[in-house]
Amino acid sequence: MRVLVTGAFGLLGREVGERLLAQGHEVVATDIASEKDFLDITDRDSIRVALRSIRPGWVVNCAAYTNVDASEAHEPEAILLNATGPELLAVECKAQGSRLLHMSTDYVFDGAKTSPYTEEDPPCPLNAYGRSKLTGEQAILKRIENPLIVRSQWLFGIHGKNFVSTIIEIAKGRPSIRVVDDQWGSPTYAKDLAKAIVALMEVDARGVYHVCSRGRATWYDLARKAISIMELDTEVVPVSTGEFPRPARRPPYSILSTKRFTATTGKLLPPWQISIKSYIQELLQYERG
Ligand SMILES: NC(=O)c1ccc[n+]([C@@H]2O[C@H](COP(=O)([O-])OP(=O)(O)OC[C@H]3O[C@@H](n4cnc5c(N)ncnc54)[C@H](OP(=O)(O)O)[C@@H]3O)[C@@H](O)[C@H]2O)c1
Repeated sequence: MRVLVTGAFGLLGREVGERLLAQGHEVVATDIASEKDFLDITDRDSIRVALRSIRPGWVVNCAAYTNVDASEAHEPEAILLNATGPELLAVECKAQGSRLLHMSTDYVFDGAKTSPYTEEDPPCPLNAYGRSKLTGEQAILKRIENPLIVRSQWLFGIHGKNFVSTIIEIAKGRPSIRVVDDQWGSPTYAKDLAKAIVALMEVDARGVYHVCSRGRATWYDLARKAISIMELDTEVVPVSTGEFPRPARRPPYSILSTKRFTATTGKLLPPWQISIKSYIQELLQYERG
């Protein structure tokens, strides 16, 4: 397959590009920061030119406005990147006959459930980022009948700043840190997610899919695991969301059911406790150069 990846310099985009190449596919890795393959997904003309010249079988949209807290004060920018841009991609994919895979998030849910969210559960975002991502999903579905929308959550990986790398940096040299212990999710290794995404593409999946690592955790659990793997002496103190106010409200529970993904591909992602070890090993190797 020839695949055009947008946002290909980001945390997930790089992993998706690498996985596609490893599987023998042809990849055009575009990004707003790329000199060679510049593509701004909010620019209709540049999308048209890129798709008409490259003629990809698939477009994988990993470009996004991903700063959850900043989205509160910058909702129009989040909407532009997370909804208008994806809609432009959908229109041009339809015109060119390319399949579109779009990335979305667990933050489309409000976290009021106490069992894993399925693809049929009604979304109800609590924050501006979630609203912008949900608007993006809806805009795509309005334009094309057969998109592939993959919702994931709590990503960590070597190609971008993330909760695990941030916690490790903060914990170094500190006797204790305070971490929220009343929000539940499934921490997901971007490398595992990229494999899952390519598996879905290879079986020509259509519709909405939830994909995340196996197992569940709070941010506190995740911080403790990272600090223990790093053999740091830092004590991790559990605190409530109320003690740690942030601009954007987060769902207290946003675990995603991956049954549809497994039924379609026959695959399961590894448990997050295994993947975080692989990630930290990779991170340490990467930092050593
Ligand atoms: N990270 C998570 O925990 C998480 C969880 C659930 C879902 N997701 C979803 O997964 C997808 C990928 O997330 P990520 O964490 O990999 O994001 P990321 O690291 O922020 O990567 C996004 C990439 O898109 C680029 N970009 C920004 N504006 C662009 C534009 N106008 N046109 C083209 N590219 C542009 C960014 O460049 P600059 O860096 O130069 O701006 C960056 O390289 C997103 O859809 C996100 O909503 C992420």
